[in-house]
Amino acid sequence: MSGDGGRGVPGGRRTRDDRGDRGQYAVLARGLTKRYGGRPGAGEARGAAGEQGATGTGGGAVGSSGRRGGRRGKAVKYALDGFDLTVAHGTVHGLLGPNGAGKTTAVRILATLVRPDGGHAAVGGADVVREPALVRARIGLTGQYAAVDEMLTGRQNLEMFGRLFHLGARRAARRAAELLDQFGLVAAADKGAGQYSGGMRRRLDLAASMILAPSVLFLDEPTTGLDPRSRSEVWDSVRHLVAGGTTVLLTTQYLEEADKLASRITVIDQGRAIADDTPDGLKATVGGSHLEVVVSDAADLPAAVKAVARVADGEPETADAERRVRAAVTDRVGALADVARTLRDEGVAVDDVGLRRPSLDDVFLKLTGGRAPAAEGPGTEEAA
Ligand SMILES: Nc1ncnc2c1ncn2[C@@H]1O[C@H](COP(=O)(O)OP(=O)(O)OP(=O)(O)O)[C@@H](O)[C@H]1O
Ligand SMILES: [Mg+2]
Repeated sequence: MSGDGGRGVPGGRRTRDDRGDRGQYAVLARGLTKRYGGRPGAGEARGAAGEQGATGTGGGAVGSSGRRGGRRGKAVKYALDGFDLTVAHGTVHGLLGPNGAGKTTAVRILATLVRPDGGHAAVGGADVVREPALVRARIGLTGQYAAVDEMLTGRQNLEMFGRLFHLGARRAARRAAELLDQFGLVAAADKGAGQYSGGMRRRLDLAASMILAPSVLFLDEPTTGLDPRSRSEVWDSVRHLVAGGTTVLLTTQYLEEADKLASRITVIDQGRAIADDTPDGLKATVGGSHLEVVVSDAADLPAAVKAVARVADGEPETADAERRVRAAVTDRVGALADVARTLRDEGVAVDDVGLRRPSLDDVFLKLTGGRAPAAEGPGTEEAA
């Protein structure tokens, strides 16, 4: 609890003063820190000092790359590095971030499955470290990978979970029937879950986490790997839950998903919240549709920039390493046609030309000033 200060994390040092009003929020986390590798506690004071050299207590914004120091290959990795989160009751809150950003770690700490190394967090006013039983009584959790038993039917799966929660056979059966109905699984109720599509499986998983109607539900990437239709089925289910009064913390790698469901979004990168805004606010930062060109040969980048600039709303942005140019456009199709024609006329070979809606990449490019999501290597603020 003491090693996480002094790294200049805004809000990261507030450890006591907001404890009084934490019950106001469904979820409140301040300065959460979780490190892997090295030895917790002692490591910061002694052993790790050698490994981390002059970077001091933090080992700092190594974040998900976690390579710093490591003279003997013993890297300390900060899965969370002073993470703040505030979720209002009765809302869907999106936690948006790339692979390795710390989303699952945050959810697991909030669900009392993992102990933080620093900071504090409360769910429904109960402290995740000191009052884990209270927290558990309030939450449901659906993990990143669906926990459905394929040998059982959908109904049997739900009845089994009901029994696990000590509902008794009759109440478990009744609750299973309600949930099958609520999640649109009545027709498939008595089929083996092994035959379910990805979307059906996810919905069954969601239903299972709702057996006891938790007041806060954590959904960890509920739609990753699903086709668009299954995805929208899951979204409908989530909306249904929230209409019933549940608060949902939803992790996702898709801006579109957070946009569709969440009233507020926290963007997480390398274990820290780098933005917290409404979807509209976030999109306003990022802009509307983008035209994107990836040239085959880096030498053609200037020509591509010129072609894109002709149709762009503003200055095109380039990512040299990816041989990519992109710019906001208004006349989407006209701009695309124009650029494709120009490039072909000039004999510029391209790997890709296309229109893109604002994506997580765009959010990151904007928020981090050019660094792509999940960048390897040290965080910029630690460069010294
Ligand atoms: N048990 C562990 N041991 C060591 N490192 C871990 C462990 N769990 C997570 N990490 C590391 O912490 C960082 C954050 O991981 P986490 O799973 O929270 O990310 P995530 O945002 O959920 O990513 P994804 O989108 O891939 O699910 C990663 O660099 C990961 O490798
Ligand atoms: Mg994850």
